[in-house]
Amino acid sequence: MEYKLLKAQREFLEIPHNYTLDVAVYQGGYGSGKTFAGSLLGILLCMKFPGIRGLVGAQTYTLVRDTTLQTYLEHLDNMNFQEGVDYEWSSTLQKLVFRNTSEILFRHFDEPNKLKSLNLGFVEIEEMSDIPYETFKMLLGRMRQQPKKEWKNFTYRIFGHTNPEPQKGWIYKTFMQNPAPNYRLITAPTTQNIYLPEGFCEELKKIYDEQYYKIFVLAQNGEYNTGLVIKDFTEENIKEINYQNDCDLHISCDFNVDPMCWVLAHKTEEKVFYFDEIVLENTTTAKACEEFCRRYPNHKGAIIVNGDASGDNRSCTSEYTNYVIIKKKLLQYGYDADIKIKAFNPPIKNRIAAFNSKIRNANGEVCLYVDRKCEKLLYNIYNLKYKEGTSRIDIPAYTQIKQNKELKFLSHPIDAASYLVDFYWPITL
Ligand SMILES: Nc1ncnc2c1ncn2[C@@H]1O[C@H](COP(=O)(O)OP(=O)(O)OP(=O)(O)O)[C@@H](O)[C@H]1O
Ligand SMILES: [Mg+2]
Repeated sequence: MEYKLLKAQREFLEIPHNYTLDVAVYQGGYGSGKTFAGSLLGILLCMKFPGIRGLVGAQTYTLVRDTTLQTYLEHLDNMNFQEGVDYEWSSTLQKLVFRNTSEILFRHFDEPNKLKSLNLGFVEIEEMSDIPYETFKMLLGRMRQQPKKEWKNFTYRIFGHTNPEPQKGWIYKTFMQNPAPNYRLITAPTTQNIYLPEGFCEELKKIYDEQYYKIFVLAQNGEYNTGLVIKDFTEENIKEINYQNDCDLHISCDFNVDPMCWVLAHKTEEKVFYFDEIVLENTTTAKACEEFCRRYPNHKGAIIVNGDASGDNRSCTSEYTNYVIIKKKLLQYGYDADIKIKAFNPPIKNRIAAFNSKIRNANGEVCLYVDRKCEKLLYNIYNLKYKEGTSRIDIPAYTQIKQNKELKFLSHPIDAASYLVDFYWPITL
């Protein structure tokens, strides 16, 4: 049986560069031919590079078994491959082995540590937006099967498919915002799949609201800021900000132990410029000071410390308050820092309102800028949301953080940054 590929599928299968690793994601609407294209590519790699070892995975095993594996078997059938002759499927090993010794393992990514000892030639990821960035990074480190001499033009391949993320996550960041030359994102609206039953998209149009249809059928990036805590932050708020060693430098602190989040800023009468952040896991206030001094050893201007007012309470592990620790520690490096904090913290909603109004006020003026170096602060700006239908901020629970480590960086960096704004430009609601 001969296939005629959709335009997006062809783009996905063809590599337009000469790097040793090719990473591609097929971002498509429902039924846009994602699984079809992924499994076809997996089989073609097995044919082209005899002895290659591939891994096909999804966050849950049911998805791999019921969807991806089925599509592999359908392709093999369409190609007139016979089980027992051209390939073997072992359900105990969850492995497809071809006559030419190529093999594909079918796995879930629920316990990524179990995949650590593999050496692979390719990886296919089903519903990529479901898997955490940590898992993706771990898979990158598994691309190290020794290529065989007879393999011509071999390239390690990681390919996946996904619906567009409803909020800017790691796929957006990795493939759209700042893609490396060997990273490609191919967009495939469902409407372009000519193999779907007639009227399929019209039916979807009837049941989904406009926004949902746009994201999950037309595969367009969504209205990402619905429900976001930080409003109206655009490219205009992102700026390359040069640290000035003779200007006043503000350190604004949130004293969580893991992670400790401080942002560093310059400010003028009306504007604030965040030029760096110190985000450290499992640390202490003193260590964060050391990191600051390591990065900025020759500051000539004043150093002003802003931050969480409750950081002035003694913690149970120290007889000094966090601010006393900072003061003492910075003195050791020759810095006489000025501590400027409120007597007590205002309600969070006031602090957030103050931060939002600096981002863009009602007259459209922008007074808050962030350098791309402040990676975790930007992550918070793009991802921190309210709990659906409430005005409570959706702070990740411990169990969610356990599943996806990146979530632990949500909420503290924005707290750190907004203490400063709230100190100088408070809003009372
Ligand atoms: N090039 C093609 N030739 C023939 N049929 C195709 C082709 N591409 C996709 N199809 C068919 O279109 C339908 C949808 O494709 P597929 O299941 O791959 O989409 P999907 O994007 O993975 O869908 P979902 O969002 O449900 O995961 C399937 O029946 C598939 O066989
Ligand atoms: Mg699919």
